[in-house]
Amino acid sequence: MRAIARAQPNIALIKYWGKSDTRRNLPAVGSISITLADLHTTMSVELEPALQQDVLTVNGQANSELLPRVTTCLDAVAGEQRHCARVTSEANFPIGAGLASSASAFAALVVATDAAIDGDRDRAQLAGLAGAASGSAARSLYGGFVELSKSDEDIELQCLRTAADWPLQVVVAVNAATPKPIGSTEAMELSRKTSPFYGRWVEQQDVDLASARAAIAARDFGALGAVAEHNCLKMHSVMWASRPPVVYWNSATLACMQTVRELQQDGVAVFFTIDAGPQLKAVCEPAATDDVRAALSATDGVEKILMTGLGDGATEFAGD
Ligand code: PMV
Repeated sequence: MRAIARAQPNIALIKYWGKSDTRRNLPAVGSISITLADLHTTMSVELEPALQQDVLTVNGQANSELLPRVTTCLDAVAGEQRHCARVTSEANFPIGAGLASSASAFAALVVATDAAIDGDRDRAQLAGLAGAASGSAARSLYGGFVELSKSDEDIELQCLRTAADWPLQVVVAVNAATPKPIGSTEAMELSRKTSPFYGRWVEQQDVDLASARAAIAARDFGALGAVAEHNCLKMHSVMWASRPPVVYWNSATLACMQTVRELQQDGVAVFFTIDAGPQLKAVCEPAATDDVRAALSATDGVEKILMTGLGDGATEFAGD
């Protein structure tokens, strides 16, 4: 009744922002992401008859804040009649700071829980369960370039290209590893209810998805970067125009954007994206990695650099 799974966070190039159904956690827009290789969450789930309640430990510390979401996810995968679970989560990167730690955590949680009960769900079913817990987590069940399509009933996922097929690199500038000021679910609802740009954002998403899909099919780095940066800035414009405004950036985020612009002007193959936190993710061709790392390391306010390639989807973990 014990299993361990490992999953990597994913970074959206075409963003999910807004829900069509908050109860079932269905996205209002489709999204396209890349799954990372070297950042990961390792999740152990042990169902124990002797336990009186679920117990969650995150990075060595008891965590009661995240426990209700974990319990709901355990119930969805193992059923409400299950034994209580001892859940242990270890991430090798900052959590709750806009680095998609909930995506890797819930992807790993559904895989570990299904394995602990000897379940035989396929990847699409596991992705549906992960997505119900955290929208972006569904994408971490798959590797490489992943599209999550919206639907009124359910979500659908597809791998557009494997990581080996187009092995881009990601340089993450960690600009503050502190937890985010407002969670993404609350912020999305604020945007939906108050941002004058929200309706247009939803309407235009299919155009950006089509451009990104075509760029990925053609392995056209310039085209992918152009639509990814545009989509990212549109999402943040929706947030900024919400009331009260949702601003995840800090001064280092802007400084990093400027650094990426200067690299681009020098002909370096790099583009940026930013999520619900001040970190900037620079996606680059492998040959550009050293230049991008050096330039971001030297940018004011950058605390730390994380480097990763693209990787595979969540799997049961047999040990290093
Ligand atoms: O899955 P959530 O609820 O953590 O929302 C993710 C939101 C963004 O990271 C900003 C965009 C995305 O598509 O991952």
